[in-house]
Amino acid sequence: MREVSALERARLTYRPNLPASLGGGLGRAGVREGQATSAARDVEAIRDRFPRTFGRPVLELVPGGGPPRPRPLSVGVVLSGGQAPGGHNVIVGVHDALRAAHPDSRLYGFLGGPKGVTTGRFRELLAEILAPYRNTGGFDLIGGGRDKIETDEQLAASQRTCESLGLDGLVIIGGDDSNTNAALLAEFFVERGVATAVVGVPKTIDGDMKGHGVETSFGFDTATKVYSELVGNICRDAASAGKYWHFIKLMGRSASHVALECALSTHPNVVLIGEEVEESRATLGQIVEQVASAVKRRADAGRAYGVCIVPEGLIEFIPEMRSLIGELNRILHDDAGAIEAAAGFAARRDAVRQRLGGDGGRTFDGLPARIQEQLLLDRDAHGNVQVSKIDTEALLVQKVEQRLAEWAAASAFAGRFQVQTHFFGYEGRSAAPSNFDADYTYTLGHVAAGLIAFDRTGYLCAVRNLAAPPAEWRAAAVPLTSLLQIETRKDRPTPVIGKALVRTDGAPFRALSSRRAEWEIEDHYLYPGSIQYFGPPEVCGRPTLTLLFEQGREPAGREPS
Ligand code: FBP
Repeated sequence: MREVSALERARLTYRPNLPASLGGGLGRAGVREGQATSAARDVEAIRDRFPRTFGRPVLELVPGGGPPRPRPLSVGVVLSGGQAPGGHNVIVGVHDALRAAHPDSRLYGFLGGPKGVTTGRFRELLAEILAPYRNTGGFDLIGGGRDKIETDEQLAASQRTCESLGLDGLVIIGGDDSNTNAALLAEFFVERGVATAVVGVPKTIDGDMKGHGVETSFGFDTATKVYSELVGNICRDAASAGKYWHFIKLMGRSASHVALECALSTHPNVVLIGEEVEESRATLGQIVEQVASAVKRRADAGRAYGVCIVPEGLIEFIPEMRSLIGELNRILHDDAGAIEAAAGFAARRDAVRQRLGGDGGRTFDGLPARIQEQLLLDRDAHGNVQVSKIDTEALLVQKVEQRLAEWAAASAFAGRFQVQTHFFGYEGRSAAPSNFDADYTYTLGHVAAGLIAFDRTGYLCAVRNLAAPPAEWRAAAVPLTSLLQIETRKDRPTPVIGKALVRTDGAPFRALSSRRAEWEIEDHYLYPGSIQYFGPPEVCGRPTLTLLFEQGREPAGREPS
């Protein structure tokens, strides 16, 4: 028996809250059809590619309206992509909903992510197996993975697995790419007459799977609360010691939602937001100037310390870095043979350098060797650079140091600049889900089971009204095709669910903009502390500030600064 902590043991007894509309269980739920849908963009192309699942209506699970199929259901679940707190509770939610509707229903967990589906590796998830995983973090119950279900062979292999298990439904728990694959699989199954309904659940700590009726992805709440605790602690340490600048990179592959949420929760001195950088077309030099100026202004005010937040995806939003990365991606793909034949980093770098154009070459030459090396590391399955492996925070520090040294030489800066760097990402991805995420994921599991019980395929679970208490949430779903648009992937127009980036005209960003100048010079740090699982709702039930601002609910109890 695995040893468990006191908190873990206590969390096993937590009973997640469900929306009032699901209180009677699936046996007493009905499904209400709303408006027919279209696509996020490129409507004709999406309709052509998804002729059988395109245009279906938005759905809501409501009390009454007739029982779903009375027979027992067989359902498979798969965890796809990076870990996010609450994955286990989605599975537990599917299980509890199915078993409450019919005790002979069966649940299978595919092992190691989508590959488990294509290779037919699974385990049956019985109540006693699930018991120790209730309200726990991580994906270790069945494991996750970043493999795809997109090629003809993978789609056909998935058909074989689902048919051999006699699955009524397959629940794909994943982010934008995994749910794009879910849309492909749903269309493929309808075309082939496969009886398995394919249902998606929005997962990612990055918070970028939202919009078009989806309010937030699960895991964002818990992960940002973990990081905010750490950032707040560092702010306090910085103010206590008065001697370090802390540069903190925060996870988020592309969008800066995590950085924005943590900044709103902790009020650091400098916050960089990738989408703002892109919009203003700020160069690396300008960003360095901005940060160095903040260091100087604080030094002039007697504060040789501070905290600067750097989103993981920043590097790809800086125009010259973005075009360099695009050029590198092309070279590493097109000339893979020649580049891989080069032995050692220096030879590999030279082989790449020879192939870069004038601008790309100059940008590359201006980077420290360590960053050059990181930019040449293997790409992910989509051919993207792995931003979590690039020390953007260290790059910034080095450049800011250089700038301050130039100012010091010109007698324009007389302060000290001592630095600590941090990267928070993996620390939060498998944390025990907050009450919000525990409730949200358990509800998502119920919605997924409900969609399967009502034979609805090609849907993404989309719980609504999430800034309100769980009893007021609404159990809804949107067709996966309604989130699709065409983007170029590997040189080909490809239907994908686009990542929702931070909107600089959105309420969360505007809340940051209105305060960040005052946070820069004076100290207005907030110390949110660790996630609270037990206690009054204002400390253990608050959703993210991003969600509150987006839904026009001014966060209650915000401290005057
Ligand atoms: P998902 O989009 O799959 O949820 O993963 C997001 C993420 O945590 C990013 O924030 C990060 O850049 C990436 O995964 C890290 O990937 P890996 O786990 O493969 O190191």
